[in-house]
Amino acid sequence: MLNHKDHFHGSDLEKIEEIYHINKEDIISFSANINPLGIPGDLKKYLSQHLDAISSYPDREYKNLRSCIAQYCGTNPQNVIVGNGSTELISLMIENVHPKRAMILGPSYSEYEREISLCGGHTLYYPLKEEQDFLLDVQDLCVHLTSRLDMLVICNPNNPTSTSITYPQMRRILDACLQHGIFAMVDETYVEFTDPASDVSSIKLTNYYTNLVVLRGTSKFFAAPGLRLGYAVTGNQDMIRKVSTRQNPWTISSLAEIAGCLMFRDKDYQKQTLDLITEERDRVYRELCSWKSVKAFKPSANFILVKILREDVDADELFDHCIRKNMMIRNCSTFPFLNNKFFRFCFMKKEDNDRLLAALREVLED
Ligand SMILES: Cc1ncc(COP(=O)(O)O)c(C=O)c1O
Repeated sequence: MLNHKDHFHGSDLEKIEEIYHINKEDIISFSANINPLGIPGDLKKYLSQHLDAISSYPDREYKNLRSCIAQYCGTNPQNVIVGNGSTELISLMIENVHPKRAMILGPSYSEYEREISLCGGHTLYYPLKEEQDFLLDVQDLCVHLTSRLDMLVICNPNNPTSTSITYPQMRRILDACLQHGIFAMVDETYVEFTDPASDVSSIKLTNYYTNLVVLRGTSKFFAAPGLRLGYAVTGNQDMIRKVSTRQNPWTISSLAEIAGCLMFRDKDYQKQTLDLITEERDRVYRELCSWKSVKAFKPSANFILVKILREDVDADELFDHCIRKNMMIRNCSTFPFLNNKFFRFCFMKKEDNDRLLAALREVLED
């Protein structure tokens, strides 16, 4: 087994190529959390017909794109800001709030903490507890929201636990934030993969709470991480003005502008994705629940967090076994509160998920 201290991020395919001598094209990435259907079918043809768009600057205000986004997620175009992936918007929002003390519900995506510390802020983690299957105890969180904090960051659904907070729960959290002058940033990168009946999105709440911004992107659900198109929704017009003043002009390319409008309108693709993920999520979760060697945490997004219960196996060994079969999973030991017993993988097409389950079974169940 190769001894690598650093763990691979979902997008580290070049590193894998170098270390394991496997062509990156041959690797099925179960670690990048990207829609296995690939980009919507018509997009390639449509973009190739509109390549001339790169000969001119995009609309500086992205009026058409913002209006497509507003229609897609049920808000007003004036509440939408677009960015170069949700990553640019995470930075801009944190820079704008400039928190001295921010709280993050963890374990979670690492960029929030990095950005807070780049802005000179201090991060406190509110731990989601393994004993509670990483589900949030809203009442307990509210006790910890005090005026000593100026920002709260929630990834919903959360990466890597795949747990989520519902709309009524978020309302309670936002009331507590409002009471203590805390600004809330909710990252909904994975929200479109959740069951619509579970009422996870907080977009509607931006109509009532000015201390809220919701971030989303096209990298995961629309399988377009290279397009770099993200957006934020907030009812706080003062924030929109300040962030727009700070943001460089034209950070979204003309092609991303065109692609975005097409993707947001493609209802067939959106339904097909949701159907596939819903079916595979239920099926894979049920299968893992029948294994003695692992504890699978109930997923609400397009990926699942799993804990290895066997003493003699860890996530490094599992990673190594799977990558040698050209399948890449995510070792979660670099996430706060997790360790080398936790791994995460996303749901791909049925036959690929079956291949992964077979490989995991060889190490864990035999
Ligand atoms: C929770 C979360 N937010 C944001 C991002 C970055 O997304 P984007 O490609 O839109 O910048 C990721 C990427 O893995 C993520 O997991």
